[in-house]
Amino acid sequence: MRTHNESVNSQFDSQANAYLSSAVHAQGDDLKAAGDYVAQHIAPTGVGLDLGCGAGHLSFALAPALAKVVAADASPGMLEVVEKAAAQRGFSHIETVQTMVESLPLADASFDVVATRYSAHHWGDVPAALSEARRVLKPGGVLLVIDVLGYENPLVDTHFQTIELLRDTSHVRDYAETEWQRMLADAGFTIEGTQAWPVRLEFSSWVERMRTPELNVQAIRALQNVAPKQVHEALHYEDEGSFTMITGLFCCRGVA
Ligand SMILES: C[S@@+](CC[C@H](N)C(=O)[O-])C[C@H]1O[C@@H](n2cnc3c(N)ncnc32)[C@H](O)[C@@H]1O
Repeated sequence: MRTHNESVNSQFDSQANAYLSSAVHAQGDDLKAAGDYVAQHIAPTGVGLDLGCGAGHLSFALAPALAKVVAADASPGMLEVVEKAAAQRGFSHIETVQTMVESLPLADASFDVVATRYSAHHWGDVPAALSEARRVLKPGGVLLVIDVLGYENPLVDTHFQTIELLRDTSHVRDYAETEWQRMLADAGFTIEGTQAWPVRLEFSSWVERMRTPELNVQAIRALQNVAPKQVHEALHYEDEGSFTMITGLFCCRGVA
């Protein structure tokens, strides 16, 4: 029986190139908002850390505003892709480190900004990861959390988390805004700003990116077909299974 961490690596390691070219990951208003926030709040001499960097899109968005970015991920395959793509973009100040986010091999108070995008819903222990983010941030440093948001309505949320898990067995939870507010406060962060954007997921590329087995694809389609009106309205389901979810950005600082 494999551990959750092994499940994360088996899902992502071989799919690194698919994440580099994925339109959902390579583009987005959230990337621009994160880059702008860092440019406005952190000096150009600042050092950034990208937790669960995947193919590196958030690192690439922050790199122009910072003196150094450390791209961290559990998956060696993702880090190889980041190194090649960073070189192609001329970002010689992006370094990589292979690590779980819950236990960072990085010094206390060594970063001006810690950021993460579309990764936290895979983490086995979000409070531990936030505690590590707080530890490695300099006093007054910025934390940016970007992730798919769960739903406050339990009917919609249970449906959404279920199709996420059927699609990707390394899925843990898309946390709702109020859950993030509580976890961030518990970890000693104050939220200075929140933004959210609708993001459309095209069904066939959504399941292909994770190599979802056909049996699970059929189970997702079966659930979609019996989903009640509230779920259809919240997820904006289309006939062939495509839907629109919400991406949230939390801009935070450590409480002094
Ligand atoms: C969807 S991809 C990341 C997308 C990327 N941040 C972006 O903006 O395009 C999720 C990444 O999180 C990493 N990951 C998931 N859980 C992790 C953990 N506990 N520690 C470190 N990396 C983790 C996976 O290996 C994967 O590369």
